[in-house]
Amino acid sequence: MKHLIDPTDLSKEEIDQIVALAEDIIAHRERYQGSMAHKKLATLFYEPSTRTRLSFTAAMMELGGNVLGFSNPQNSSVSKGETVQDTVRVVGCFADIIAMRHPIEGAPLVATEVSRVPIINAGDGSHSHPTQTLTDLLTIKRELGHIDGITIGFCGDLRFGRTVHSLIKALSRYQDIKVVLIAPDELRLPDYIKQDVCDKMGVQYRETNSLDEAIPELDVLYMTRVQKERFLDEDEFDRVKDSFVLDARRMALAKQKMAVLHPLPRVNEILTEVDDDPRAAYFRQVENGKFVRMALIVSLMEWKNDPEHGMPEHEAPIHNPALHCTNPKCICNNEKHEPLFRNAENGITRCWYCDSKVR
Ligand code: CP
Repeated sequence: MKHLIDPTDLSKEEIDQIVALAEDIIAHRERYQGSMAHKKLATLFYEPSTRTRLSFTAAMMELGGNVLGFSNPQNSSVSKGETVQDTVRVVGCFADIIAMRHPIEGAPLVATEVSRVPIINAGDGSHSHPTQTLTDLLTIKRELGHIDGITIGFCGDLRFGRTVHSLIKALSRYQDIKVVLIAPDELRLPDYIKQDVCDKMGVQYRETNSLDEAIPELDVLYMTRVQKERFLDEDEFDRVKDSFVLDARRMALAKQKMAVLHPLPRVNEILTEVDDDPRAAYFRQVENGKFVRMALIVSLMEWKNDPEHGMPEHEAPIHNPALHCTNPKCICNNEKHEPLFRNAENGITRCWYCDSKVR
């Protein structure tokens, strides 16, 4: 069965198929009304969301299906201590497909081990957000006409920004992608993305802490919010919270055809004076999120019993009781799951669930 936990669960062809289907849905919405009649989507949101949860809900409604679930785990038996796996076993009795957001990294992955219906990761901690990635790819395609060959700048919180991690993974499958990483030292991209994705896949990247210096060469500027909720130290957050602000002066330095994306919500990092600039694509991006999730639901339901669309083959996980994942937000440190590991690039061992470097 096909689940979507990480962008690399989809082949490049499957990503292109979903993006193309989303474009067809936009052009011929009436053809897809009713295609999910009598089907149910469960949205299990253990963490706040506006766009992702509501766009999944709107997507299933437009397809003629129904939606159930929770937006606050305190109103569910999670508050009594029910595990992720037990919750998913139960919800799989009621729903045909599940979208899950969880603050603990690896939670959607352990859900797939017991689920009888497709699981979609709607964001796990700082780790991954693959449906935002599909939204971003559709937006780049619609704004620029192509994905291959772009120079994209990621600006802001590249350390905790799961949308950045996921989009870089997906872009590494496209041709001639150049990445500019614009962040203060404290918020730089994690090494595992640089080594396991950029170095391994041959993605050119460079790092800078100057948006003014980087902006003239960009086709896409991907702004991000500094994620207060992920910091363990509030003083550190205060030091970096307003590192980069996109305003009209900086937009004047950019190409006439650059597209500004942001997964939203924004706080201070894009001034509202930018909103009316035709290059500001972030509200169009929100709407694309509904269409791409319609395409994803249709695809995963079609692929459910198709052996040609299974999960990708991975090397078996490493069992080694001498190793420990030190990420306090990893599922193996929050529920009872055997710590598992994988060999990554440069002889580094990483946690199977959250990709943290293992010491
Ligand atoms: N982009 C995004 O994930 O937004 P929400 O947190 O509102 O779902």
